[in-house]
Amino acid sequence: MEARYQLARLLADGRPRSGAVLAHGLGVSRHQLLRLVDELAALDLPVLVVRGRGYRLAAPLELLDAARILADIPSALRARLVALEVLEEVDSTNGYLLAHPERAAGGVLACVAETQTAGRGRRGRSWVSPFAANLYLSVLRRFHAGAAVLHGLSLCMGVAAARAVESLGVTGVSLKWPNDLCLDGRKLGGVLIEVSAAAGAADVVAGIGINIRVPDRARADIDQAFVDLHGVGVRVGRNRLAGRVLGEVLLAQERFQSEGFAGFREEWRLLDGLAGREVVLSGALGDLRGRADGVDDDGALLLRVNGRSRRIVSGEVSVRPVDEAAVGSTP
Ligand code: BTN
Repeated sequence: MEARYQLARLLADGRPRSGAVLAHGLGVSRHQLLRLVDELAALDLPVLVVRGRGYRLAAPLELLDAARILADIPSALRARLVALEVLEEVDSTNGYLLAHPERAAGGVLACVAETQTAGRGRRGRSWVSPFAANLYLSVLRRFHAGAAVLHGLSLCMGVAAARAVESLGVTGVSLKWPNDLCLDGRKLGGVLIEVSAAAGAADVVAGIGINIRVPDRARADIDQAFVDLHGVGVRVGRNRLAGRVLGEVLLAQERFQSEGFAGFREEWRLLDGLAGREVVLSGALGDLRGRADGVDDDGALLLRVNGRSRRIVSGEVSVRPVDEAAVGSTP
């Protein structure tokens, strides 16, 4: 483990530790310790010097812990997991699972990370993933269905994430087609499905990112309007949220295998934040304006354009409500 992350771990509870104890525990000199303190500050984890008592983090951290995450998942669902890996730092949790699908050994493999150095968002965007701040979760499972069906899976994962957040008492949760998770209309998180196709089957990674507490420095790097749970006064533990989301994802994936997206359509309708609104769709072929009219059994967006209903299947479009366009909202 990198020394700076080790230092974060030693200071995570927010209590002061003496420089001598920290340097000894990390096997570094006092001078190197000061460098590590600076590195943490650069990660938006300021360390304070407490006179006569040493160093402490300005605010305690809840680091990820597999046992605590799993404790929140009903045992029948938990039993489906080959493993839940907790990673300190990774380029992308999706990329990590996609690189070695065989490790799922025909079952389900999940991972969470404290930070992603190259987190991926939809439409080629990056997903800003500061250390110990938000939730970055991916789940790998083999589906015996064509890629077209998997579009519906992506919407299901949005429903799973919404259910998880709502289960913690949060209100005002909605979904924006295809799979933005919103709170009071602003983007709280998102889903990215990536597939590695094998003959007759697909190894599918479902990645979910949810903003819990986006630190100040990272805010400037995010190029779309967003919200985090702390910002609306919701204090939820990272392990608790991870457990809820993972549990809901496992459940939704099993239901999806037997029911397809059709089984989720009603739930999706109840969460649909675009229903009945004028929207502009922007994609490779330009802009299209119409009224969002829900989704069909495959998860396609139904768009009413000049009195006719059109099915929009490509997730590679951005959807913007017309009444938000003027304030430059979520693309
Ligand atoms: C979006 O653009 O709305 C989708 C964001 C998905 C982010 C998550 S974080 C965990 C997983 N790993 C990634 O690299 N991306 C997804």
